[in-house]
Amino acid sequence: MAGPVAGSRLRVRIAKLLWRGRGLARLDSGQVVMVEPGVLPGEDVLVRIVKATKDYLVGVPEEISTPSLLRRPHPCAHAHLCGGSRFGMVSPADGLKLKTEILRDALTRALPRDVGQDVFSRLKVVPSPQGWRYRWRGQIHVRDGMAHAMEGASNDLVALSDCHLLATPLAQAMPDLAASLPDGRFTIAASPVTGQAVHEHSQAELEFYYPDFDLRCTLPPGVFFQANQGLNQVLVREVVGLAQGLGPVADLFSGAGNFSLPLACRGIPVLAVEGSCRATQAGQHTAQRLGLGTARFVCADLARPAAWSVVRDAAPRVILIDPPRTGAKGIGQMLASLDGVQRLVWVSCDVVNTLRDARPVLDAGWQISSMQLFDMFPGTWHMEVLMVLERPVQQA
Ligand SMILES: C[S@@+](CC[C@H](N)C(=O)[O-])C[C@H]1O[C@@H](n2cnc3c(N)ncnc32)[C@H](O)[C@@H]1O
Repeated sequence: MAGPVAGSRLRVRIAKLLWRGRGLARLDSGQVVMVEPGVLPGEDVLVRIVKATKDYLVGVPEEISTPSLLRRPHPCAHAHLCGGSRFGMVSPADGLKLKTEILRDALTRALPRDVGQDVFSRLKVVPSPQGWRYRWRGQIHVRDGMAHAMEGASNDLVALSDCHLLATPLAQAMPDLAASLPDGRFTIAASPVTGQAVHEHSQAELEFYYPDFDLRCTLPPGVFFQANQGLNQVLVREVVGLAQGLGPVADLFSGAGNFSLPLACRGIPVLAVEGSCRATQAGQHTAQRLGLGTARFVCADLARPAAWSVVRDAAPRVILIDPPRTGAKGIGQMLASLDGVQRLVWVSCDVVNTLRDARPVLDAGWQISSMQLFDMFPGTWHMEVLMVLERPVQQA
């Protein structure tokens, strides 16, 4: 008998959540239905099938007939349309528990089952100091001088008067920033020190402070920085602790030195490699201004072999990797080919892509010695994972 086709409607029960916040349901026939984000485990949901293949179906939720007990009113007035906060219908604490289960599922799929279970059993979970209003950097779409976000279910835009993910000074400045910009997509950002809010084309410099290192620096607004600055301080402290004590560090995808500058504050030799020359210029400028002579910034594309000869020449004992969400295809082979490296400290905003990229080092026998889940993005299904890999002990 033919199964459900695109356009048909089904009632399903969500068994669990998958990577990217999708719900997983199974029909009596055994066929899998993946339900677009916005649903929770245990919920009975009416879904409209938008894709039907031999192996699985994809559905969008149209009505939740038995809501989860975790569900509560979303604090944002735009949430019914905006796609930016798909986990805001649960408390930040419950959202983090759900993400922990999503990570468990992802690890047991991407790694051999016993390895995935072992890594998960030692997982440390680090909550965000703020459940809402934690982002000091964000993107807006400007239309007719007004800020918009992408609608959840389409590519349409939703006009925003506020955003609960943005830190208060940035949310308050958003309408004026949008009014000063032409139509298009723009980064807006604010300093967590002064609250000064700007758009990416502003000439102003944003001020940052790392209390653990008594480190002050400034960044041009177009340069990447970790959006959740409260939790970033905890992440930096952990990363520096993990990179310390083994020898020189190579900080790959370094941005403007979020990790390199604190490492240099501890006197550790560090080579920072990053593709944005504006970011490396900002990092080098701060290092020179503060007399942090052990930090060296190089602007290079890590997809090209030339960048790796610079890394090789630095003879790092520790490599710190913090690639963009899409990951860094091919990096695993490069890492596996480097002699002398003892530890890889991998900061990942998409652990599924990271485990794909790390496959060559895992196949070469490197072991995942620890993993931490940092709740960098409450109100969304996104998570930051800090993974440490150790080189296998050489047999005599
Ligand atoms: C997730 S950010 C991390 C930045 C920094 N580690 C931090 O914590 O602020 C990723 C960085 O990778 C850089 N990047 C992306 N593709 C790159 C490439 N092919 N080569 C070098 N850098 C790249 C981006 O410019 C961005 O600064």
